[in-house]
Amino acid sequence: MRNAPLGFFDSGVGGLTVVNAVQQLLPAEDIVYLGDTARVPYGSKSPETIRQFAHEDTRFLLDREVKMVIVACNTATAHALPSLQERYQVPVIGVIEPGVDAVLADPAAQRVGIIATRGTIRSHAYQHALALRRTGLIIHATPAPLLVPLIEENWLDHPATRAVLHTYLDPMLDRGIDTLMLACTHYPLLIPVLRDFLPEGVRIVDSATTCAELVRSELTKLDLLSDTTGKGSLQLHLTDLSDQFEDLARRFLAHSPGRIQRVVL
Ligand code: DGL
Repeated sequence: MRNAPLGFFDSGVGGLTVVNAVQQLLPAEDIVYLGDTARVPYGSKSPETIRQFAHEDTRFLLDREVKMVIVACNTATAHALPSLQERYQVPVIGVIEPGVDAVLADPAAQRVGIIATRGTIRSHAYQHALALRRTGLIIHATPAPLLVPLIEENWLDHPATRAVLHTYLDPMLDRGIDTLMLACTHYPLLIPVLRDFLPEGVRIVDSATTCAELVRSELTKLDLLSDTTGKGSLQLHLTDLSDQFEDLARRFLAHSPGRIQRVVL
């Protein structure tokens, strides 16, 4: 089982930011990735539909005999993680717990802004997890549905994106947030723009790196770390394939994605 692959899924290609972080930390691990590009976005769908899709995505990965499932999508984590963990034997990890850990890693964090899809914000998963672990924390959570299409359009440092960021972030900046949680796997691509956009002293947090650390600690705990020494493989599966998705995959992964296979769930 140690040398079985890790399985990742996301509604699309955003979860490749998590894959990238895991490849850097655990380069020997083989990875199977499923991006449900035929049905993206999940962020605007109902909790029932998101759960159904998340179970289908997980079963696809289990058929490939993965040793662990990583839900590399905030929306799917918010709505489906407990039911996935209950249903399947393999360990299932989401991105919210590591995101919350990353926010609370700074003992001084007191006012936290959260941006995410509508589905993630409406689930209150981040708000509850944060409030449970630090009393007195002030949380400003805003759905930011326009950011995913702008990022996919590669409009990162673009006047339209800056205008949208003003609309979403100015109200929380007016309230003096000290931390901004990027609670969507697409948003790390905006980090360079956000660094320039946000006032100094506002910490930007995303869950990709902390999720990779959680994957390593869980694998270590379960004695499931790969014992091979070479570079692990990456198998990329998408439920819809177009030139645009190949280009996006390259940008999210920060290297060539290799051959991408179209699959039907
Ligand atoms: N991957 C989703 C997330 O992290 C964003 C895209 C979508 O709405 O499906 O929430």
